[in-house]
Amino acid sequence: MELAAERPLGASSLDRDPLTLEQVRDCFPALANKTYFNFGGQGPLPQPAIEAMTAAWQTMQQLGPFSSAVGEWVNGQLDATRQTFAEELGATADTIALTENVTAGCNIALWGIDWRSGDRLLLTDCEHPGVIAAAQAIAQRWNVTLDYFPLRDWPDRANLPDAIAQALQPTTRLVLVSHALWNTGEVLDVGAIGRACRQQQPSVQILVDAAQSIGMLPLDLPALEVDFYAGTGHKWCCGPDGLGVLYVNPNSTLEPTFVGWRGITADRQGNPTGHKPTGQRFEVATSSYALGVGLQASLSLHRRWGSAQERYGRIVVLADRLWQQLQGIPQIDCWLDQPPTTGLVSFRVGGDQHNARSLVSTLEAQGFLLRTLPNPDCARACVHYFSTEADIDRLIEQIRAIV
Ligand SMILES: Cc1ncc(COP(=O)(O)O)c(C=O)c1O
Repeated sequence: MELAAERPLGASSLDRDPLTLEQVRDCFPALANKTYFNFGGQGPLPQPAIEAMTAAWQTMQQLGPFSSAVGEWVNGQLDATRQTFAEELGATADTIALTENVTAGCNIALWGIDWRSGDRLLLTDCEHPGVIAAAQAIAQRWNVTLDYFPLRDWPDRANLPDAIAQALQPTTRLVLVSHALWNTGEVLDVGAIGRACRQQQPSVQILVDAAQSIGMLPLDLPALEVDFYAGTGHKWCCGPDGLGVLYVNPNSTLEPTFVGWRGITADRQGNPTGHKPTGQRFEVATSSYALGVGLQASLSLHRRWGSAQERYGRIVVLADRLWQQLQGIPQIDCWLDQPPTTGLVSFRVGGDQHNARSLVSTLEAQGFLLRTLPNPDCARACVHYFSTEADIDRLIEQIRAIV
């Protein structure tokens, strides 16, 4: 009997041949009936990923579901998934922990620190509410003070690394900052921020929220020199929801808070002997292994169109087109006053008739999917490298007609 996942998608040479943008787009069922601008919320799943996951579940049923053959297959897929994420980050697989999502990765770093009463945690006022909530829980549990760096309205973007470093106090243990801001789309030089902070205070650790950077920015994690970089496969990578990634700097001595068989070493009798020395020490136990197979298929699809640099280059070109055209609509005010360097474009909606909420819901009824953002009230449209100029032009036409 031939096993469904014996020939994993992306494994034959045919599956590695370059594709045109149109061929890439044709792989996404979600793009067939709508014009999609919510990549920063969730990327659509390509058909090869859906098929690879279905095949993976079939394989596990055919081999087990619980057997030594399944165990071997699962371990191979977990290794391949760590390796796939590692390549995306420009890192090695031993720095990778598979997680469930961005927030879980941030929580691993946040709860792993041995906080003492009176410690401080510096974060920006542009972080995601779920991650802020985790920091607030730390503050409450350990009597830690949160210092919010006023990033949103900081006037001098050029001196940000030094300004953030100046905001450190002698007891600041951790700096929490996003690589690409989920609200404005601005990219922060997290490498420079980390270096400036360590120069000011050598023991401070840097946790980066990578929700909006993995799968969009070309990455070289060793060069960034941060301690923790928490991201997900379900946004710009277009992988399945429920699979995230945490990069752990090889020099980090952070210990896991949640512990289970996936993160430990054991003797011949199976008795635990310690934590694995790699990022894998933060993985706990049973999870949905087919998700990793889906992520591998999604990323191998992207790699069939250009390099990471070329895909990012096209994202910026398309975001520029969207930003320029939005600027030409009198009732629209783009959040950034210069062309974006990510695929996230946020804008305020003025006029008597409409605000961001009503615009986004009218657009959704017409098949254009955007989202709203709070504080300030904005709409956000995201473009990926496989978005088209025609998508953008149609969106602009529709917005003009509505406002
Ligand atoms: C910057 C940022 N952080 C965290 C999250 C939460 O992501 P997840 O649901 O994967 O934890 C998001 C989601 O939009 C985000 O944009």
